[in-house]
Amino acid sequence: MKLKFAAKASDLIGEKTDCLVVFANSNKRLPTAAASVNKATGGAITDLIKGGDLGTELGSHVLLHNPKGIAAKRLLIVFADKPKLGDRAFMGLAKDAVACCLTAGVNSYSLCLEDISVEDRCIQWQVRIFTETFIKATYRFDTYKSKKPPVPPAVKLTYMVAHKASVTAVKRGLAIGEAIGYGSSLARDLGNTPPNICNPSYLSKQAKAMARGEQSLSVKVLGEKEMDALGMHSLLSVGRGSVQPSQLIVMDYRGGKKGDAPHAIVGKGITFDSGGISLKPGASMDEMKYDMCGAAAVFGALQSVMALNLPINLVCVVAAAENMPSADASRPGDIVTSMSGKTIEILNTDAEGRLVLCDALTYVQKFKPKTIIDLATLTGAVIGALGNEASGLFSNDDGFAKTLINAGQLSGDRVWQLPLWDDYAKQLKSPFADIANLGGPGAGTITAACFLAEFVKDQTWAHLDIAGTAWIKGANKGATGTPVGLLTEYLMGL
Ligand code: BES
Ligand code: MN
Ligand code: ZN
Repeated sequence: MKLKFAAKASDLIGEKTDCLVVFANSNKRLPTAAASVNKATGGAITDLIKGGDLGTELGSHVLLHNPKGIAAKRLLIVFADKPKLGDRAFMGLAKDAVACCLTAGVNSYSLCLEDISVEDRCIQWQVRIFTETFIKATYRFDTYKSKKPPVPPAVKLTYMVAHKASVTAVKRGLAIGEAIGYGSSLARDLGNTPPNICNPSYLSKQAKAMARGEQSLSVKVLGEKEMDALGMHSLLSVGRGSVQPSQLIVMDYRGGKKGDAPHAIVGKGITFDSGGISLKPGASMDEMKYDMCGAAAVFGALQSVMALNLPINLVCVVAAAENMPSADASRPGDIVTSMSGKTIEILNTDAEGRLVLCDALTYVQKFKPKTIIDLATLTGAVIGALGNEASGLFSNDDGFAKTLINAGQLSGDRVWQLPLWDDYAKQLKSPFADIANLGGPGAGTITAACFLAEFVKDQTWAHLDIAGTAWIKGANKGATGTPVGLLTEYLMGL
C-alpha cells in the first residue's frame, strides 16, 4: 500500500477528506478541534457522548457517514480518555485509531493530534509515533502468496494543525516517523523472508543494494577466506556444517565529519539456527529463520539513518552464517581460536550466536568506535526473564545503559537492564580452553552476555537480547522490526 503523509495548517470544517478523525473525551469541555467540529455539526459529538454511544474506553469510537456542516465525507470520533495521556497510552491510542481508520478502508484521512496532549512529549513526537503506527499497521508480507489480497492503491494521511508555527515540528515528526516506519518494514521483510532465500549471501546482496548510488555508504563483504586470514575461527566454526558460506558484512556510513570516530552497531545474522549437532527439537523450529533479526535491525536502522541524513559516522557489522548439522559441523567439545586470540570450548553448538558475535565485536573495535551496540536473538532464556514485553539490555557503562533505556521508552522498543556480574561470568570457566560457550543452567541470558563482554576491550558497549521481541507467534505471526526505533532514536540524539 502506498502511503502519503502531509501537514497542513487550516481549520477542519472545510477540510475535504474521505474521513476526518477527531479525538474527544468526557471532560466538560471538548478539545479545540473537536469543539469546532462539534459546533459545525450542530453538536454531533456531544450527542454521542451524552447518549453513551461513544463509549468511555481509550480508543472506543464511532464512525458517522455524511456528517452535516463539515466538508468531510465521514467523521470518525475516537475517545481519548483523560486530557493528558502517558506515552504508552498514546501509543495504544494511535494503534486503536489507526485500526478504526483502516476498517473505514478509504483513501484519505485528516486528523488533528493537537487535541491530545501527552505527558512530557511534544507534537513532533506524537506525529512521529502516529506515522510509524500507520506504516506498521499497513505492512503486509505477501511476496510468496500467489493470490494477493486487494489493498487500496494509495492512502493519504494529513495532519491538521491550528497554527502555521507548528507545521515545521509536524513535518519533522513525519519525516522521523517515516524513516523509522520504513526502516522497521525493511527489518520485518528480511526477518520474514524464508531461510532458503534469506541466507548469508542474500544479506550481502541487500547490503550492496543499499550502497548503490549512495555516496555516504560503502560496503565491504568478507568471505570465508578473508575471515580465515583474520583468524575469525569462532565465527567460521558456526557455518562449517552449512553449504552456504558465512559472510561478514561491513557497511560504513559517513554522514559526519571526516575524522570523527564512528558509532557501531553489530547484528547477529544466523539465517537459520537448527542448533547444529546440538540439534533443536522440532516444534517451532521454523521460527529459527528469525535468528537473523539482530542483523535485520541493523539494516533497518541504517536505512532509517540514511533517510534522515544523520550527521554521524556509523559502522554496521552483520555476522551472517547458517547453523546446520553435517559430517563437517562443529561438535560439542571442539575448541576454536577466536580473532581475539582467546580459545573457546564449544560445549553446545546451539549457543552459536555468541560464537559469531565475539569475532564481529573484535573486528569492529578496529574502527575505534565511540559506542558499540550489538543486537541478537541470543537466548531463549531472555523470554523466561522478560517475556515478549522488553528486550534484555546489558552494558559495561551504566550511563550508556540509561541513554538506551530512555531511547527505548521514547520509541516504544522497551529494554530492561540485567546485571553483568563476575559471579555469573564464572560459569563460563572451561577446564580446557580460555572460555566455554555455555554457562548455566541458570541465568542463560546473563551468561551469554557475560561471554560477549569478555571480548570487549575498554569500549563503551551494550548488548540487546531481542529473542523475545523480534517476532510474534500466533495468528499475526511475523517479525516486528524491533529495535529499529530505539537505534534510530539513540543515533538521532547524538
Ligand atoms: N537463537 C537461539 C535463541 C532463541 C531460542 C531465540 C528460542 C528465540 C527462541 C540461540 O542460538 C540458542 O539456541 N540459544 C540457546 C542457548 C543454550 C544452548 C545455552 C537457548 O537459548 O536455548
Ligand atoms: Mn542456537
Ligand atoms: Zn541462534
